[in-house]
Amino acid sequence: MAMINVNELKVVFPVKGGVKTAVSGATFAIEEGETFSLIGASGCGKSTILRVLAGLQREWQGSVSLMGNTLAPGQVFRGDLRRNVQMVFQDPYASLHPNHTLWRTLSEPLIIHGEQVSRKQITAMLEEVGLPASALDRYPHQLSGGQRQRVAIARALLLRPRVLLLDEPTSALDMSVQAEILNLLNRLKAEHGMTYVLVSHDAGVIAHMSDRAAFMDGGKIQRLYSRQDLSQGIHQEPGG
Ligand SMILES: Nc1ncnc2c1ncn2[C@@H]1O[C@H](COP(=O)(O)OP(=O)(O)OP(=O)(O)O)[C@@H](O)[C@H]1O
Ligand SMILES: [Mg+2]
Repeated sequence: MAMINVNELKVVFPVKGGVKTAVSGATFAIEEGETFSLIGASGCGKSTILRVLAGLQREWQGSVSLMGNTLAPGQVFRGDLRRNVQMVFQDPYASLHPNHTLWRTLSEPLIIHGEQVSRKQITAMLEEVGLPASALDRYPHQLSGGQRQRVAIARALLLRPRVLLLDEPTSALDMSVQAEILNLLNRLKAEHGMTYVLVSHDAGVIAHMSDRAAFMDGGKIQRLYSRQDLSQGIHQEPGG
């Protein structure tokens, strides 16, 4: 059974004077343990698909199943479904609360999910993402961009998700930091056995990370790339 199954997904937004179709009939399946990437020009619908998979975009049509759970439009993610699907956003500054210490940022999701929180557990996770325990008392503005993204990854991983949704996780970072974060994500995936859905504009990032990829244009998936296609380089034209 596929980890993620999306069939004829359609997302339409009401806009002034009519509607905007952001996703129009996307179909794909992602197996457990895969890194599946969505690529394509700005506005083609990549983030909208991730937001549906994260339960953040609740108005949609078609059929979607996650880890064997068939979703209904409008459904609010709760319990295991909520903790098993975590998302890391493009801008690590905007995604961390500026007035919360890292301790608070990292402990809160666990508390929300009714888990006991120990300093030892959170320190161990920080170490896994390459940050010292002393960072727990710091605020986001006291960290570099790469360190902030490490915190965002640690926050997602503390819930032990099975699926990690990564929306341009390194595009706000310098090249050298980008490579560090991508390698970290690959290592964590291997260690924790997760499934990744990655959005990126960068053909190099896609080739380095993905098992398969889908090229989108105008809300549609125009082409699927196998691992072998990816190793030969991506040509982002439909059929190209
Ligand atoms: N809440 C909304 N209301 C109206 N239109 C929206 C909304 N969210 C997204 N859109 C539109 O839907 C389309 C797809 O948006 P989406 O954010 O999924 O694109 P994207 O592929 O992630 O682009 P980018 O690479 O720039 O992040 C765009 O035309 C966008 O303007
Ligand atoms: Mg986007």
